[in-house]
Amino acid sequence: MHLKRRTLLTGALAGLVPGTVGRASAASRRVFPEEFRWGAATAAYQVEGNNTNSDTWALEHADPTTFTDMSGDAANSFELWPRDLDLVITLGLDTYRFSLEWARIEPARGQFSVAMLDHYKRIIEGCHARGITPVVTFNHFTTPIWFAAKGGWSSPEAVDLFARFCETAARHLTDGMAFATTLNEPNLVGMLEVALPGGRGRKLMGPDKKMSEAVARRLGVDLFLAGNPIYVPDRHVVQANLIAGHKAGRAAIKSVRGDLPVGVSLAINDDQAIAGGEPLRDSMRRELYDPWLEAARDDDFLGVQNYYRAVWGPDGKVPIPDDAIVNSSGSEIYAASLAGAVRYAYSRCPRPVFVTEHGVATDDDAQRAAFIPAALRALHDVMQEGIPLKGYLHWSLLDNYEWFHGYGPRYGLCDVDRTSFARTPKPSAHVLGALARANAV
Ligand code: FCB
Repeated sequence: MHLKRRTLLTGALAGLVPGTVGRASAASRRVFPEEFRWGAATAAYQVEGNNTNSDTWALEHADPTTFTDMSGDAANSFELWPRDLDLVITLGLDTYRFSLEWARIEPARGQFSVAMLDHYKRIIEGCHARGITPVVTFNHFTTPIWFAAKGGWSSPEAVDLFARFCETAARHLTDGMAFATTLNEPNLVGMLEVALPGGRGRKLMGPDKKMSEAVARRLGVDLFLAGNPIYVPDRHVVQANLIAGHKAGRAAIKSVRGDLPVGVSLAINDDQAIAGGEPLRDSMRRELYDPWLEAARDDDFLGVQNYYRAVWGPDGKVPIPDDAIVNSSGSEIYAASLAGAVRYAYSRCPRPVFVTEHGVATDDDAQRAAFIPAALRALHDVMQEGIPLKGYLHWSLLDNYEWFHGYGPRYGLCDVDRTSFARTPKPSAHVLGALARANAV
């Protein structure tokens, strides 16, 4: 019988890493399937640095802007990606999710950079050289400035432009990919207004609109619409284009490599209801997820990304309990939300689930170290109920640039020194690594 290396190491590691496999008794140990993947995720814009040709760079530099920080060098992963891959493997993880930066690959409309495609090819090859499974996101929010300046995803040309990008990137890169996703959390577009915790989305609507208008004025265009805006002029048009874009992108990738598993990553809360809150909860689900869960039914797998639960009452979201443990922005930390999100997603879209993101923003790494095994225990229950799971990818490998929140929120398994770019694993990284090696929680 073929035993994976991590299975053989289980015994050796049990008890060596605080708070993990060593504590679980044989009876309470939950073992994952042999082919279950364990990894961490990043996104190009958030770690590479100096993506000066991407829509978000223009927003950061707009006057006025809603962005707290400029991304600048980020974690300098454009140069230091080999170190990131070394981290993945030395921590004991086997899978790395990263994204292609469209603006680097297609810096001007129709002009593709072979050098940049080669850059991403080297990362894929670097994964294989280390025994890491590469999961590649074709587009993680950011689009090229030229695309956003044409109205972004609201433009009638958006679908074809995205499909052409996917096909070109696929021709160069799909050989070594293990899994691909077309878009990251496209279901958030136009919905961040309601989806951001604490009503922050609603407060940001006006300022977000002013910011994109300032960029449009500077560029002399009618509408500048970035890939993950809060303000969207017509979200039904944008949603329809994104859904069509996902399908066209998937077809383009499949036309190059038909056997590559392709999906889309969706942001899904664990929406719960107290008595009388069901109608509101259900209507939110219909709005936020169902069109996408319908659209993903022909995909090879469904990417589920979860950070929160939302409890709905008859009059709206119920405030978090007084005794809730909270993250660095005051939102509730609720480890079982991942399992709840997966259950709902699978009930509407019965495809194998890949958890492509899950994490917590906290400066207190002990919170993360406790949160990871707790979430994975609940995830294992989901699997026992019969929902097929491909793997679990933690957000994020590194502390990184968190969009308009800047460098404040820390989601990383590893700390990054913003000047030397030194990466230092936190204790939670070893907790996840030990679970991965044991393939059990
Ligand atoms: C998700 C995004 C990811 C990161 C995490 C915290 O919504 O996909 O880029 O910002 O949130």
